[in-house]
Amino acid sequence: MASILHIAGQEEEALARACAVLARGLPVAIPTETVYGLAADATEPDGVRAIYTVKGRPSFNPLICHMADLAMAERYAHFDPLSRRLAEAFWPGPLTLVLPLKPDSGIAPAATGGLDTVGIRVPQGFARTLIARYGKPLAAPSANPSGRISPTTAGHVDDGLGEKLALILDGGPASVGVESTIVKVEADGTLRLLRPGGLSAEAIEAVAGVALLRKAAATATIEAPGMLASHYAPRAFVRLNAHDVAPGEALLKFGSLPVAGEDQAALVLPLSEAGDVAEAAARLFDLMKQADEAGVSAIAVSPIPQEGLGEAVNDRLARAAAPRPEDYE
Ligand code: TXA
Ligand code: MG
Repeated sequence: MASILHIAGQEEEALARACAVLARGLPVAIPTETVYGLAADATEPDGVRAIYTVKGRPSFNPLICHMADLAMAERYAHFDPLSRRLAEAFWPGPLTLVLPLKPDSGIAPAATGGLDTVGIRVPQGFARTLIARYGKPLAAPSANPSGRISPTTAGHVDDGLGEKLALILDGGPASVGVESTIVKVEADGTLRLLRPGGLSAEAIEAVAGVALLRKAAATATIEAPGMLASHYAPRAFVRLNAHDVAPGEALLKFGSLPVAGEDQAALVLPLSEAGDVAEAAARLFDLMKQADEAGVSAIAVSPIPQEGLGEAVNDRLARAAAPRPEDYE
């Protein structure tokens, strides 16, 4: 059973306990501004392997390596000028850059799934302080069982993985609530969006001065191997772009206008009464989990505008609604 330690008011103790667990080659669950991560020393094969085991994650799906700052990141990866400009503009923050790995970088091959590239980001807050204190990069996927909803609270982590972990650090609810945006600058200078996330495409394009190229969701599996079509899967059936709700269904509601049938819904959960896509992103995973735990047959979701963080919200919702592997069994 994991011990859960609140960071507020005892950050020194939290840092010391986390460093001790990491130094033993074990993973520790930590808050980041996007979602909670399951972190291990990215240079230690045992710790990295433990991440895959604990999550039940396929070994071909590479992990993001978290750094304390750009200077640390440059020790492990080559930065082209555009990637460096994006890093300077958005780190620390919810942006992951896929970059060529330096030879003899020391990153455990298991962390990159054997690729010659590495996904890197500098997280905000406690996670960044921890990396600076520990002095080495931390590989960290979201701290959920593979294929399930990502955790935005320490309680979510405990529900999914608590029995398999030594330590969960509780930093309160994640402020962004969806995972980082992943981009890759190609050799010809084009900028590719591998996963929409907590930093809007518009913000990236404003700094880059070029448009982000997107791939159709169905074919994105090759570029970011973890982005399997069905992901973030609740147990309930998910019905998107719903303008009405049936008796017994849960409604994830966006905006304040009445929705047909909502009086008879089993549950009405507000993503954002104000119609704010960033607020919807911050609440999405927690509300999906609440609806799922209520045991409803289906979750109806209001249409969400495809702008700003709405792109990430719609991406996660589409994956939650996708056919599950077990549907084919
Ligand atoms: O916000 C986040 O990114 C969170 C927090 C903990 O930082 N982490 C996270 O990790 O979402 P994870 O493992 O759930 O998702 C990592 C994604 C996967 O889809 C993986 O395929 C992709 O990053 N990825 C990692 N390295 C890559 C690489 N070298 N090339 C392409 N995709 C890569
Ligand atoms: Mg994940």
